[in-house]
Formats: sequence, C-alpha cells, structure tokens
Amino acid sequence: MDTAHPSFPILVALFVLLLGVTSSQPYEEFLQCLEFHDSNITSIVYTRANSSFSSLLESSIRNPRFDTSATPKPLLIFTPRQISHIESAIRCSRAHRIQIRVRSGGHDYEGLSYSTISPSLTFLVLDLRNLRAIQVDVPSKTAWAQAGATLGELYYAIAAESKKSSILAFPSGICPTVGLGGQISGGGWGTLLRKYGLAADNVLDATVIDAKGRILNRASMGEDLFWAIRGGGGNTFGIVIAWKIKLVPVPATVTACTVTRTLEQNATEIVHRWQYVVDKLPNDVFFMVVLNSVANPVQANATTIQASFNSLYLGGIEGLIPMMDAKFPDLGLRRENCVEMSWAKSILYFAGFPLNSPLESLLDRTISATGSAKFKGKSDYVKEPIPISGFEGIWEKLKEVGVQTGGLILASYGGKMSEIPESSIPFPHRAGNIYQVEEVAFWVEDGVEAADGYLNWLRGLYEYMTPYVSKNPREAYANYRDLDIGRNGGGGEGDYRRARSWGSSYYKNNFDRLVRVKTAVDPANFFRNEQSIPPLSSWR
Ligand code: FDA
Repeated sequence: MDTAHPSFPILVALFVLLLGVTSSQPYEEFLQCLEFHDSNITSIVYTRANSSFSSLLESSIRNPRFDTSATPKPLLIFTPRQISHIESAIRCSRAHRIQIRVRSGGHDYEGLSYSTISPSLTFLVLDLRNLRAIQVDVPSKTAWAQAGATLGELYYAIAAESKKSSILAFPSGICPTVGLGGQISGGGWGTLLRKYGLAADNVLDATVIDAKGRILNRASMGEDLFWAIRGGGGNTFGIVIAWKIKLVPVPATVTACTVTRTLEQNATEIVHRWQYVVDKLPNDVFFMVVLNSVANPVQANATTIQASFNSLYLGGIEGLIPMMDAKFPDLGLRRENCVEMSWAKSILYFAGFPLNSPLESLLDRTISATGSAKFKGKSDYVKEPIPISGFEGIWEKLKEVGVQTGGLILASYGGKMSEIPESSIPFPHRAGNIYQVEEVAFWVEDGVEAADGYLNWLRGLYEYMTPYVSKNPREAYANYRDLDIGRNGGGGEGDYRRARSWGSSYYKNNFDRLVRVKTAVDPANFFRNEQSIPPLSSWR
C-alpha cells in the first residue's frame, strides 16, 4: 500500500478536526453531537446566550475572586440529570475538543471547576447539581451519595435516618456547602479526623465514568484507579458520579467549645503550649485554633491578636472539663465556654451558624462561608512546635493587614491520622504531623491592585513560615489548591518533571503511583486542569 499520501478518510477527518477547531461557534457542533445521542438533552445545556447562564454559573462560584468580567468563562454549562447525559458529554467533548471542567460544590480555591487561567481555552462546565441523591442504610452503616450533593445534605440525611437507632456520622469537612465530588477527591478533613481519619479514608466503592465513557465501579475499575480517586485530585482520573461511604458511630451528645484569648490574655503562651498537647489528646477531642488580628477590646483604636480555640469532644461536658483541666490547664476551659448538642448540629456550630439554627440549615446550598469576600489560601504541616519567637513574628505579619482580613487556621492531627499509612490513599500527610496550617487572606475590595496587595501579603506570610513547617518537600493539602506552588500549562497540558514539584507537596511519594494510574486510565490526558496529574506520555 502507498503510504506517502493520506487516504481520503484521513483527509476528511483532518477537515472535520480543522472545522471543529476554527469554528466560531464550536458549541453548535457540540450541541448537534449531543442531540444525535439524545434528542432531549439540549434542555440541560446553557449557552452564553441563555438568560440563566450567568446566574447558573455564579450560583456555585464560592470564591468571588474568580467572578469578574476578566475571568475566563465556559462556552456552556451542562447540567446532567442522568449518567447517560455525562456519557454523551464526554463523547461530544472529545469529538469537538472542548475541555470539561467538572463542578460539584464549586469550592475550588483557584476556581478551576468553572474557570481557567487561560483566556483562550474552550471549555464547558459539567455541573453535577442535579445528581445529588443520597441513600443511607443504617443497618450496614453505609450510604451511597451522588457527587453533586453537599456535605450539609449528606449530614442531614444521615442524621435523619439514624436518629432512631444508633447515631451515625461521616468524617468529612466543616463547611456544609462543600460538594462531595471535590471534597473526597482531595481528602476531606473535619472534626472527626482524629477519631476516624478523612472522608477519603472512609470510601468503600464509587461509580466513575472514565475518559472512554465507561461506567465503572470498584470491581471493574480495579484497585489502582480506586486508590487514585480517593484523594489524588479532582478532574483527573474521571468523573465521580457517586461514592459509597462508611458511616461511623458518634454519641448522641457531643460538646463544642470556644475559648478566645488575646495577646493581653496570654494568647502567645497558650498557643505555644497547645502544640505540645494537641496531637496527644484522646482521639475523641478535635482542636482548631484560628489566629487573626482584631480590634483591641480594652484599648480604643488599637488592634491585637486573637487566638480562638474551637474544640469538639465526642461526649458530654462532664467528661470533657476534668480531662482538659488535667491535660491542658493553660487554656482554662470552663463550662460556660461549651455547649452540648448532636454531632450534626455541631457542624452548624463550627460553620458559624447561630446556636438556635434549625438542622435544616444544613440543606441551604446558597449560604456562603466567606460572604462576598474574595480569598486565597495556602497550606502547611507542622512537625515540630513553633517557638514563642516564631509566633511573635506571625503576630507582626497579621498586624500588617486589616482586622479579620488575614489569618491562620491550625487543625490538630494525631490520633487515627497517625495510624493510617502514608500510601493507604494518595493523601500522605499522616504520622509526624502535629497540626495542619491554612494561611488565608480575605478581601472585599475590587480590582487587581487590591488583590495584589493581599496576595503579596499572603505570600510574605508563607515565606515567613518556611523555617517552621515541613521541608523536602514542603507539604501542602491538595484540597487547598494553590497555583503558586506550581502548575501545568493553561490548558492543563502537563509535564511530568514540572508537575513533580507541586505533586510531591500534595502527594509526597504517592505522586509517581498517581502518574502511573493516570497513564493507564487516561493516557491522552482528556481530564485535565492546571493542577491535574499528567500522564507519563506528556514527558515526551
Ligand atoms: P469543586 O466543584 O470546585 O471541585 C473541586 C475540584 O474537584 C475541581 O478540580 C473539580 O473539577 C473537581 N471535581 C468536582 N467534582 C468532581 C467529580 N464529581 N468528579 C471528579 N472531579 C470533580 N476542605 C476540607 O477538607 N475540610 C473543610 O472543612 C473545608 N472547608 C472549606 C470551606 C470553604 C468555604 C471552602 C471554599 C473550601 C473548603 N474546603 C474544605 C476545601 C474543599 O474541600 C475543596 O475546595 C474541595 O475540592 C471542594 O469540593 P467542591 O466539590 O465543593 O468543589
């Protein structure tokens, strides 16, 4: 056969490809493709011409930093109602070279589930808001939950189903509007992490659609892919439709407490001491400290630093107070700092709802944890206590920005987190960590100049933290996505060697296994974004 000239079908294919790439309306061909597979499907597609496009896009933008006129927008939003819709979207996206960004709850710190850093990228948002069914099976202590459900919807369903018999819960995040799709794909920590580990540690099975459009479960996807989807990052290995999760027992009464101390009330010494205690407390205690600058309560027109100690104890107040008096007397915890409640209600407490809020508040998908504030977060892990002088430097940094605009959130580790091997799932930050740190900046001002000011401040704080946090690699939490630590190309084109630097921070020695799984299941890198795991072929 003469191979010097392309055959007719190849020429046609090239022409079609060219047409797809250069067409001014690529979505029209995409829509025709969808209609070809299912004639009713276009009713769940919102193009930019649709009057609901902007409100639909914005309804799950959880970081207003990526909701400006300059933010790159999707070509269309696709809201599947059944799995076959997703299969069609994958087929047609591949045929028409439209990149897919999957969105569950929309909390991605860098907005990658609905935007991109590349203004020229043609992409669609596949929004799972209509796929949020939850089935709780109390006798087997399991549940199937679709990825578009929020944590609040899941906690509410578990509480409603299990209150008559044993009280069950799920060890996942604190913010009720976070989506199960992104949360479990990156780990998912909350107030039960010292007792039961992460959300991703408690996944038993999953339904996933891969790049070929195959619908897989744990048995058919194999243990490598099942390992990778539990913490190896979203929008990388396929689209998770649903998770089967293990529910965990909690007592009918738990105790939530808040103690605040300013510098004038010995905050520096108490936070310093906290580090020596917190990872060794019984697994029934979770502790979080929020550090920020506040108006000084005793001096007009002055600021001070406040440390807010928030804890959750799996039991009643009578058991908690003597234990804390014995193990952490420096805090001076008193009954009046604490409230007894159900575990489901404690989620509302930690999310900042008023004490008398009904449990139904967990179902509200419209509330925003950050209001209209834009934000950026970064993360670290602390393995040796930070000295007093280190905290004094942090206070100086916090005083550089306005009241409540920048802070650190320290979350206690130890307990179950130290018992789970680093390679059990892709999330590697286990034994040896005293606590996790989130450095964060919030601002309400518009414009690039204001944003740059806060971003530079946060980067300065992160730089300052260097001697006090993990090294080689400097570890980071994948769910607190931070493009400062490295990224793929704007369209998500990965490069193994470049990705290794940020990949090691998120996944440590698990990074190479993630690359191997990606290479096996999605060698053409169909599912990608600015921080997805690249396949090995990308090296070439
Ligand atoms: P979103 O929909 O933006 O998805 C995040 C990433 O996962 C994107 O890359 C997306 O494409 C991908 N993805 C989404 N659905 C997918 C699916 N079905 N299949 C495959 N990929 C999918 N974390 C934590 O551990 N504990 C906590 O308490 C909190 N609290 C918190 C509060 C607030 C206000 C914010 C903004 C964030 C948090 N987080 C958190 C971080 C949170 O876990 C992280 O941002 C998650 O990725 C968010 O998941 P969503 O589905 O909401 O986001």
